Amino acid sequence: MSAKEVKKKKARQIWLNVLPDDLWVKVDKGVSIWEALEHTDVDIDGDCGGMGTCGKCKVKVVSEVYPPSAEDEDVLDQDEIDQGIRLACQTKINQDMVIYTGEEEEEEEFLKILTTSHVVQDLYIPLSGIDPLVDKRLVILPPDIQQDGLSDMDAIKQVLGPEYNYLKAPLSCLRKLTRNLKETAFHGTAILNQQWLLDWQSESKAGRGYGLVFDLGTSTVVGKLLSLNDGTEVGVTSCLNSQSRHGADVISRLQYIKDNAKGVARMHKLLVGDLNRLTSHLLKTAGLTKQDIFVAVAAGNTVMQHFLLNLTPIGIAEAPFSPVVTDGLINKAIDVGLKLPDTAILYTLPMKSGYVGGDLLSVVLTSGVAEQKDEIYLGLDLGTNGEIFLGSGKRLLTCSAAAGPALEGAKISSGMIAKAGAIENVSIDGDGNISYRIIGNIKPRGICGSGLVDLIAVLLHLGIIDDEGLIRPPDESKNKELASRLVKRGSIYDFRIASAKESGTGKAVYLTQNDVRALQLAKAAIAAGVETLINEMGITVKDIDRVYLAGALGNYVDPLSTIRIGLLPQVDVQIIKSLGNAASQGAAMVLLSKKYWYKTTQLADFIEHVELSSAPGFNDNFIDHMSFPNQNTW
Ligand code: FES
Repeated sequence: MSAKEVKKKKARQIWLNVLPDDLWVKVDKGVSIWEALEHTDVDIDGDCGGMGTCGKCKVKVVSEVYPPSAEDEDVLDQDEIDQGIRLACQTKINQDMVIYTGEEEEEEEFLKILTTSHVVQDLYIPLSGIDPLVDKRLVILPPDIQQDGLSDMDAIKQVLGPEYNYLKAPLSCLRKLTRNLKETAFHGTAILNQQWLLDWQSESKAGRGYGLVFDLGTSTVVGKLLSLNDGTEVGVTSCLNSQSRHGADVISRLQYIKDNAKGVARMHKLLVGDLNRLTSHLLKTAGLTKQDIFVAVAAGNTVMQHFLLNLTPIGIAEAPFSPVVTDGLINKAIDVGLKLPDTAILYTLPMKSGYVGGDLLSVVLTSGVAEQKDEIYLGLDLGTNGEIFLGSGKRLLTCSAAAGPALEGAKISSGMIAKAGAIENVSIDGDGNISYRIIGNIKPRGICGSGLVDLIAVLLHLGIIDDEGLIRPPDESKNKELASRLVKRGSIYDFRIASAKESGTGKAVYLTQNDVRALQLAKAAIAAGVETLINEMGITVKDIDRVYLAGALGNYVDPLSTIRIGLLPQVDVQIIKSLGNAASQGAAMVLLSKKYWYKTTQLADFIEHVELSSAPGFNDNFIDHMSFPNQNTW
């Protein structure tokens, strides 16, 4: 850049001061607050990926306030506008600016991300079945072999026997092999993965072998640390997926990478940053170092697995929804950006298609459906994308229904992720009085997915919402207390869950008519997906022997409520079971046993994917499932 250009550029730059961190960011005039904060540690929510529609990226402009934009006026209320609150994604910085982003919440402390899993009993891995992806073999190179003039590698091959005739080693291992052999007096442990020698270590050091498992959720990321010796789970931790600032669901994130040349690299960096933070937290808590980690296994939807590998998932955005790769891949963990030893490997699970990823394969593996000959299982991984399987070991169908983030509490007016202050459960007593269970037992701040499903089921039961999803006017309600919560906005009614006084934010918490519509769309997509698979399989609902729910919502939601709103078909509630965090459980099974590692590859071949957008009858099913069942199952 010439001196003149540098001078010009400097003149174009101004300061953004971010409180309460007192962070000073030099930015180009005209960029939005959102863009200015993109490469900082300041986390701003944003479900719509900066489109100005979700209202989650609010910041307070402390310096001179600009007039509100049209989007500000659409999304913010007058009180907020008067206080200087603006949407970060819509506010351009044209002169030095001071903003306040609010106190950072202790996210990890209060998040109720699902980290437990309920392994189907017959798939529990006994100690004798532990056969991790990485083997450790005690090897003694006898003096005659050492003096035979053989290369180090050939000497090791000879001692390991014909099983390892094709043994190779990465450069990182070869570079220190001679030194390591000498230091261990040719009596050490070979760290092996298939036909690869990953490392040569002293016997004592190699005894401490651990592996990591990552569940790459669209909203949250879970990390687990496991002992490779006995399969013990040493630690579990989780955090919000930092990519959320670029959209709450995969569709918004695909849009983001379409609009930004460096989008994939940014998504990759954010995800790897999350995994590195989780790893260092796990190691610190367990008193281990990164040298103790030999292997990591990651499972997520196809878009997340692509982002992890820094591959572009853009082909998944449009028909025919083609990913770059669907194979299970083994890579060096450091090549992916993980802060692990240069010998550690990362295995990413196979995927079936653009919308059926390693996470669903994990759920299939955990449920044990492929071992079933006589019983038919229905499984649903209820996250931002509803991934569904139906069948048995004879035939297994899968599909992915674009439910959107409503079931996770996103894009809902008072929606929030399951953390402190979220209404997670709603119930009624015999007199029709509603009560809520709130995470953290504090005043409500919003409602998460399981609370939303419960609330709508309860309001359907009480006749506040009709079968078409319309919130009825107060004069049609017999319950006076509930009728007083119905607030007219234009020609429609919203239901006030908590008044400004009752809420933890000082603002009333509502279920709006639009929220009900968003839930109807989500549940219709899933129910239509289930019905399409049932038809394709040529069975009826009565033929289903078990229903497994996985994912964050699947674990906490009341099975009765899912049937009441028509998310699940009318099955006997007793056959519905939760699988917990099946994605990480499946990945853990793969980590601890090669048997399951081979099995995921077989499963990816065995399962049949049904593309809903072209499946006959799907659109009609979807429209049929928009309304709520008029059968009251309570
Ligand atoms: Fe700004 Fe959604 S309104 S990110």
